[in-house]
Parts: sequence; structure tokens; C-alpha cells
Amino acid sequence: MTSSLGSPRAPSARQAARPGRRVAALAGRCALVVSAALAAVAAPASGDDTAGTGFAPDEVARILSHGPWPPPVPGRDPSNRVSGNADAIAFGERLFFDTRLSSTGLVSCARCHQPGRYFTDGHERSIGIAPTDRNAPTVVDVRGRRWYGWDGSHDNLWSQSIRPLLDPREMGMTPATVARTIRREQDFACRYRMTYHRDPPADDRQVLVDVAKALAAFQESLASGRTPFDDFRDALARGDRAAMARYPEAAKRGLKIFVGRGSCSVCHVGPAFTNGEFHDIGLGFFAAPGRVDPGRHAGIARLRANSYNLLGRYSDDPARTTATSTRHVVQEHRNFGEFRVPGLRNVAATAPYMHDGSLKSLREVVRHYSEIDEERLHVHGERILRPLRLTEPESADLVAFLESLGDGTPVFRLTQRARPACEVL
Ligand code: HEC
Ligand code: HEC
Repeated sequence: MTSSLGSPRAPSARQAARPGRRVAALAGRCALVVSAALAAVAAPASGDDTAGTGFAPDEVARILSHGPWPPPVPGRDPSNRVSGNADAIAFGERLFFDTRLSSTGLVSCARCHQPGRYFTDGHERSIGIAPTDRNAPTVVDVRGRRWYGWDGSHDNLWSQSIRPLLDPREMGMTPATVARTIRREQDFACRYRMTYHRDPPADDRQVLVDVAKALAAFQESLASGRTPFDDFRDALARGDRAAMARYPEAAKRGLKIFVGRGSCSVCHVGPAFTNGEFHDIGLGFFAAPGRVDPGRHAGIARLRANSYNLLGRYSDDPARTTATSTRHVVQEHRNFGEFRVPGLRNVAATAPYMHDGSLKSLREVVRHYSEIDEERLHVHGERILRPLRLTEPESADLVAFLESLGDGTPVFRLTQRARPACEVL
């Protein structure tokens, strides 16, 4: 199995069974597939309806752009020298589920990122050692992003993984207590040596960073599976009416709103349903009574000040190949109240919603967009959002579409079975 780990998101059994699906090749062919599909379904186009699919040509193009899934595998993270390394993935998996990395000995990463809840926690705002200000996003499909966190205050996965360790409300550690735990606990020290081929060094911060890089390697291996929407999308691409008919009518009507008058796909773009950037959708400002959450505005300041960012000395990429956005990002007034556009795959499994967990169900999310308060959109650029005034049946259709983006299973867990060596000490 070790050989497949050159690419950490190794193909699942399901993908491997389909020899034609080589993801790298698909990347290059994507544009071709789209135009071929359009040709296949576009003739003869009658009015708005493309060959009886129920979708106009521009809608078809937009639908196809939400795939294929799974997408081409992003390469290993150049800023993390153990990205894709089997021993690092196994070490990271151990660390992720272990409460010894918290000052109380009670909190692990998995407390707020629970596998059974699609790696979220079901709370409005997460609770570690103490309550926090924000809702826990999933850690599935986090590989290869430009920004992490609701406010984008991190530019790489290992630095994002340091944050909860040191936050007094989450795990309450310091670089010194993390390093001491790794040196003292024999199984951790053993896995550290297997991963880094040396003893944990005396430099506490270096040990902290190495722990975070193993955690990142593990999280990079979590990827979501195919969904009813993907089957429909591929059927549309092939012009396969029989397969298209298996997608529920309500979801089809909801999809039409999503890519059409709802303008949802303007921000929730591409196979992951996010442009990865930041917008204001008119939610409340308060993290707690009297305390405002400035979102992206403060996130940029934090990113700059963070010594674990991609421009700092802990990045393993001397050429700084992935640091361009960090170098050039500028803080603007409009960033106030902006939060990162979340991906929508398996969204049905991750209630409650939004950075503050303020919307309890997909129905409430749809109601928010349907009745959006334009007065609250305080910045330019969000003119795209207008109250949609959906009828009850239309709202139900949009929810049915969102539910067709997966129900939280399956998550490919591509980690290696833990090597026994460190457990039999
Ligand atoms: C107390 C609950 C809690 C714990 C414990 C916790 N997290 Fe989180 N996690 C959150 C919250 C809340 C956020 C959103 C933070 C923000 O945007 O400010 C988050 C965000 C993240 C993200 C960013 C995801 C994204 O979409 O950008 C990653 C990655 C992550 N956590 C990994 C970890 C790891 C690794 C650990 C353990 C070392 C951990 N978390 C421990 C609650 C928690
Ligand atoms: C202007 C860009 C934009 C548009 C247009 C938009 N969204 Fe969003 N969406 C966002 C942002 C930003 C968030 C997160 C906001 C926050 O937490 O403050 C979000 C959050 C969500 C969430 C919650 C996901 C989660 O994990 O918490 C859902 C569901 C959602 N949007 C669906 C839709 C639907 C359906 C539409 C169309 C009616 C739509 N969005 C239109 C930017 C947009």
C-alpha cells in the first residue's frame, strides 16, 4: 500500500475500478468534455429548453462546471515536507483523535470535528475548554486551499492546525507544553521519529510545527465521495436521458434556481461549490452581546502577523511558490463583515450553518436568501444578492437540491492502518 501514497488522495476502490477515470487526464479534458456535452445536448435547441433536458444552454454549462467529481488531485503541499507521507498521515490521525494535546486532557480535534458528523460538531458555536465565537467547519476536502478559517486568517493547513492547539478556549496548550507532551509520551515520540527520522528537537516551536504538519497530512487525506448530483451532472454531460431521469424532479427544479435566478453559483462555484473567497451575505455582526466579529477584515491582519504563514521561516518551500496571495493580499474597508464562502458538498450533514451557526437548517438558509435584508449588506459588490421571494414549493425544491449534494457519507478515509511498531513499546 505504501506505494500509492506518493499521491495521498489515492484512488478509492470505486475510482480504481473505473480505468478511464484518470484524474490528471480529466483536468486537461475538462473544457473539451463541457463543449462536447453541450454539443450533445444542444441540438436541436428549442427555445429555452436544451433538447428536452429542462435546462437552457447557459444553465447546462453552469451545471457541468460543478464537476467532475472527484476533481483532479492537488499535488502535495510544498510548504509541508511530510505532505503525502504515510507515516505522517498515521501520526496525524493519532494526534487528531487524542486528548493529550489539550491542557485539560479532555479536548481533541475530533471533539469539534467528529467523523460521524462529517467532521463538524453540531453546535452553533464550538465549545472546547470554553465556548468559542464560531461554528466548526468540516475538515473534509481541505486539501490545497488558498485560505483557511472563516476569516482566512491562515494561508496553509498546518498553520491553521496550530490555531486550536494554542487557543485558550479550544485546547489551551503552548509550544512548550505541546513539545513536552511529544517528547514525554512514548508512542508520540516513536511516531515523531518514524515521520521525521530524528528525535523531537529542543526547539519547542519546531516540534509544534512538526505536529501541525502531521495533522495537516492526515486531514489532506479526507475527501468526500460522489453524490446524486454528480450522477446527474455526468448523465447530462453524456446526454444520457435514462440516467438523468433518476435524479429527483424537485432537486432538478432546485438546481435550476441555484444556477439561474438564485445566482447561488456566482459565489458557490465549481466542483466544490465555492470560489474560496470572502463575501458578506447580511448576517448579524455580533459574536457575543456587544462584541463584533469583523470577519475577513481582522483575518487579513492576523494572517500578516502570523509567524507560521507561508512567508515565515517554518515553510518548507524556499521558493515560496504558494505564497503569492499572502504577499499581495490587501486589507480593504469592504472586508468588514465578510466571511469565506463555504463549499456545499454534504452540506445536509453539517447543521447548523454559517460562521456563527445562526441558521439551524437548510430551510432557514433558503429563507435567509429568500428574504435577505438589503439594508444589512453594507458593502458594495454584493449587489448580486437580492431577496429571491421564493414560494414555499420553490424553497422546498432548493432544499431538495442542496440535499442532493450528499448526506455526509461516505468519506474516503485513505489513511494507512496504524503501524503496530509504536503501540507495542
Ligand atoms: C473547540 C472546538 C475545536 C477544536 C478542539 C478544534 N477545532 Fe478546528 N475549527 C473549529 C472552529 C470553530 C473553526 C473555525 C475557526 C475560524 O474560522 O475562526 C475550525 C476550523 C478548522 C479548520 C479550517 C477549516 C476550513 O474550512 O478553513 C481546520 C483545518 C481545523 N479546524 C482543524 C483542526 C485541528 C487539526 C484541530 C486539532 C489540533 C482542531 N481543528 C481542533 C473548532 C475546533
Ligand atoms: C455573494 C456570494 C454568495 C451568494 C450569491 C450565495 N452565497 Fe451562500 N454563502 C456565501 C457566504 C459568504 C457564506 C458564509 C456566510 C457566513 O458564514 O457569514 C454562505 C453560506 C451558505 C450556506 C451555509 C453553508 C455552511 O456550511 O454553513 C449555504 C447552505 C448557502 N450559502 C447556500 C446558498 C444558496 C442556496 C444560494 C442562492 C440562493 C447562495 N448560497 C448564494 C456566499 C454566497
